[in-house]
Amino acid sequence: MNQGLFITFEGIDGAGKSSHIDALAAAFHTGGREVALTREPGGTPLAEKLRALVLNDAMDPLAEALLMFAARRDHLQQVIEPALAAGKVVLCDRFTDATFAYQGAGRGFDLAVLGQLERWVQGLPGGGIRQPDLTLWFDLAPETAAQRLAGARLPDKFEAQPVEFFRRVAGGYAARLAQQPARFFRIDAAQSRDAVGQAVLQALRAKGWLA
Ligand code: TYD
Repeated sequence: MNQGLFITFEGIDGAGKSSHIDALAAAFHTGGREVALTREPGGTPLAEKLRALVLNDAMDPLAEALLMFAARRDHLQQVIEPALAAGKVVLCDRFTDATFAYQGAGRGFDLAVLGQLERWVQGLPGGGIRQPDLTLWFDLAPETAAQRLAGARLPDKFEAQPVEFFRRVAGGYAARLAQQPARFFRIDAAQSRDAVGQAVLQALRAKGWLA
């Protein structure tokens, strides 16, 4: 049986990760792998309900962080862990790095508390913490992302934030990369869509996970 693979996609709103997730799923299918496509917050009926609350209702940073991790706990137990155990490739649009970037760096919430929640929620029965095998960080200047988002659709609570918020979020992602460089791959998302797609495939080939 294939070994399960957990790959996450991160970046500020407007960085343009979504279409590349679908393309990567297709590439894994072509290579004969079973793929589970999912997202956070969300990915289960309960977590999707929490997503609707957390993306639309005003709340204090602790409530926001707790709801993100509550959704994540359900998602890990119902979807991510079973898929990995079955040898699937799990492609997840955002995961815990987003909580450190948005609630931590963006909102200024206590990083040590987020670290404690991460250890509780992602703790594995045999010890250790579930972390992605690879995180693709779509890095884009906040000004460029704001231009791409402008007029695209009705913004949610986070998308409506000013550019300074996204500068802090981008800094939060850079800090996570600095702490855990081995699992991160930074993609220059200012390139053309084709070039970004090639960079994604290149990252996976470099790992030996795609032919
Ligand atoms: P996003 O992933 O961009 O989905 P869509 O493209 O459908 O809008 O939206 C999720 C939003 O939630 C995004 O603004 C980032 C935010 N978020 C957090 O603030 N913390 C988290 O832990 C996660 C997973 C997401």
